[in-house]
Amino acid sequence: MPNDQQLWSHVDAYFESVLNVGDPALDATLTASREAGLPDIAVAPNQARLLQVLAQAVQARSILEIGTLGGYSTISLARGLPRNGSLVTLEVNPATADVARENIARAGHADQVDIRVGPAVETLERLVDAGHPPFDLVFIDANKQQNPDYLRLALQLSRPGTLIICDNVVRNGRVADADATDSDVAGVRQYLNDAGSHSGLLSAAIQTVGSKGYDGLSLTIVQNPPGE
Ligand code: DHB
Ligand code: MG
Repeated sequence: MPNDQQLWSHVDAYFESVLNVGDPALDATLTASREAGLPDIAVAPNQARLLQVLAQAVQARSILEIGTLGGYSTISLARGLPRNGSLVTLEVNPATADVARENIARAGHADQVDIRVGPAVETLERLVDAGHPPFDLVFIDANKQQNPDYLRLALQLSRPGTLIICDNVVRNGRVADADATDSDVAGVRQYLNDAGSHSGLLSAAIQTVGSKGYDGLSLTIVQNPPGE
């Protein structure tokens, strides 16, 4: 009998094969990211495909990503956009942004993707101050401790119907431990608390297993105000 992780990886490999997940540019993105020494924490290929499916499902034309890393999820989200769609992605580390920029260009999305380098909270505040039009989809996948700030600011860059996705909300189940001292878990729990207690938001969270272990995503839709 395989252990759980072997089984999850085996099934993910099957899904990747039968659903034609991944392509040469995405593979090259992982190779280049590894060679540049980036941590191996990008979303799994089948989850990247899910992001592309969700972007198409909400007919996103404008996407905000918080946390670029090597651009793996960025490319997948960009592939869910129409050709004239656009994506703004926020990355704190300039060297990491350089790796992502090359990966995104290789994948053919350089003209659609705008990488903003700097602390995400500052960049988000700047986007709000500049009156940036609302995004159709927001993907949060950066510093977990700042998730509540990312949500607060993402809501200022949203409209009714905006889909806000947050990665890593399960963390091997630690999210459900109210006594967890891990500050990342605290950030996720505060995020979920904020999303769940906000009357203008409708949220769900799903637990996932696969090649990247046991984790999950939350999905939040900004609601129409009452009476509209
Ligand atoms: C970590 C962060 C991620 O965004 C992820 O998908 C997996 C792990 C981390 O910080 O450990
Ligand atoms: Mg993540």
